[in-house]
Amino acid sequence: MITSEGKYQMVEAVYSSRNTNVFKALDTQTGQNVILKTINHDDYNPINIPKLKNEYRLLEKLGSQYVVNVYELLRVEDRFSIVMEDFGGISLSEYMKSDSPGLVELLDIALKTTACLDHIHRNAIIHKDINPSNIVYNPDSGIIKIIDPGIASEFSSETIQALNPNTLEGTLAYISPEQTGRMNRTVDYRTDFYSFGVTGLIIKPSRLICFALPIKSSLP
Ligand SMILES: Nc1ncnc2c1ncn2[C@@H]1O[C@H](COP(=O)(O)OP(=O)(O)O)[C@@H](O)[C@H]1O
Ligand SMILES: [Mg+2]
Repeated sequence: MITSEGKYQMVEAVYSSRNTNVFKALDTQTGQNVILKTINHDDYNPINIPKLKNEYRLLEKLGSQYVVNVYELLRVEDRFSIVMEDFGGISLSEYMKSDSPGLVELLDIALKTTACLDHIHRNAIIHKDINPSNIVYNPDSGIIKIIDPGIASEFSSETIQALNPNTLEGTLAYISPEQTGRMNRTVDYRTDFYSFGVTGLIIKPSRLICFALPIKSSLP
């Protein structure tokens, strides 16, 4: 188990998956609380390093109130981690497990999330993995930020975004038909709004017309 990484002292595990470990950590030099996202080295997959680097680069480029701010891409021996801000947020998926926000709060969350997406798209980036675990919310301050643009792509008006036909990227239940490759059309920024729409169905199914995910999947 990791207890420290460079000058960062782990305080609490926040999340763990096959690919990723996320911790609350302390910068022992400045006393600042941070979030440290590190690749899971017990299940080493070389693809995860470029993904993490892409995530860091795009978050740095997008630096603003709309995305989680990054401090450094840390390398300790062969282990890479992103050190990012801890603004006291939790993912919407976690928040929805413990709280049942009212309609006004939900609309506030929805409006703020669309502002985040607008900022990302205006910077010519498509996130491609919008879902409740990649939207972080602090219920006390009302701040919403987008995280995890690991598979995001940059585009320009001259370059049409192309899909890699050999891989299915994103979280299956949330990705748009064009992102799955089931439709013969290119992916553009609107794919994030599709995923955001599905996120809305999950957050408050009883208040919306649809009561279940359009696509059910047990895949990770
Ligand atoms: N800056 C952050 N603040 C609070 N929680 C975070 C932050 N970054 C990540 N997390 C938590 O860790 C989880 C996984 O992080 P994420 O970057 O989405 O990893 P993965 O690439 O494995 O999906 C998020 O769903 C959220 O619960
Ligand atoms: Mg994620």
